[in-house]
Amino acid sequence: MSRNIADTEPIPCGGIARAMPAVIAHRGAAEDAPENTLAAFWLAWQQGVDGIEGDFHLTRDGKIVCIHDVDTRRTAGRAVKVADATLAELRQLDVGCWKGKPWCGARIPTLGEVLATVPAGKRAFIEIKCGAEILPALEQALAGSGLHAGQTVLMAFDAKLIAEAKRLLPQRKALWLTEFRHGLIARVRPSAREILQTLEKTGADGVGCRAHRVVDQAFMRTLRAARKEVHLWTVDDAATAKRYLRLGPDSLTSNRAGWLKQQLCREPGAPGLPNQETPAPTRAPGHAR
Ligand code: G3P
Ligand code: CA
Repeated sequence: MSRNIADTEPIPCGGIARAMPAVIAHRGAAEDAPENTLAAFWLAWQQGVDGIEGDFHLTRDGKIVCIHDVDTRRTAGRAVKVADATLAELRQLDVGCWKGKPWCGARIPTLGEVLATVPAGKRAFIEIKCGAEILPALEQALAGSGLHAGQTVLMAFDAKLIAEAKRLLPQRKALWLTEFRHGLIARVRPSAREILQTLEKTGADGVGCRAHRVVDQAFMRTLRAARKEVHLWTVDDAATAKRYLRLGPDSLTSNRAGWLKQQLCREPGAPGLPNQETPAPTRAPGHAR
């Protein structure tokens, strides 16, 4: 049975418990394996990540599947619109070959299959990519997963959808996702105050936003004062991660989360650990962002 993890529990790093943001695998171990497949999620767990992030749509026959885009063109080489297809039709597609021969045969997983990979004490960040029609099936999949409420976090860019998700599933954490846009007078929007207004209106527990220069100490203070969480994506290099580490975000999401966690856990002078940053692995072409 999975155990709950306290929000503030330090992540054990190389045997040393340190206050660290959770390091979350964006679409699984997306740099090394085909995104949003069971292979990518299992690999991420093997690499020691704190959580996984995946993207979810509803099929025509009411099943929840893990895929980023509205259709399968990019990952299967043939465009099938997910909302118009049945699970059985989608299962026929190969979503591994685009990443390289060793991954051929990978299939689009269901939400239930993804949740079944989550080990005790770890979390799954579930990004809803479609509309509110997914919520009844989502409620069912979460209830059937056997995971503790604290092990799943719901996310969406659509604020109305987050409000509905919180109404239906108040015990599950939910994050409102936002991009930043540059306004006419060089002002970046939404501001921390505007984000807070949306979080309060929707009942969201926090924000998931791009790691952008607008996220600074003042930004964090505004959200922390209201006891809201701040999760940042997508951070793929150690220097950027260390810069944001100082601000104390709740999580950093990365396409190379296992590698990034190793960099962040490296204690200068810790026994058996070199002080120098390990060179990043060579990127496979077309890796996810
Ligand atoms: O965690 C949020 C992030 O995944 C949103 O961007 O396009 O990769 O789903 P995207
Ligand atoms: Ca996502």
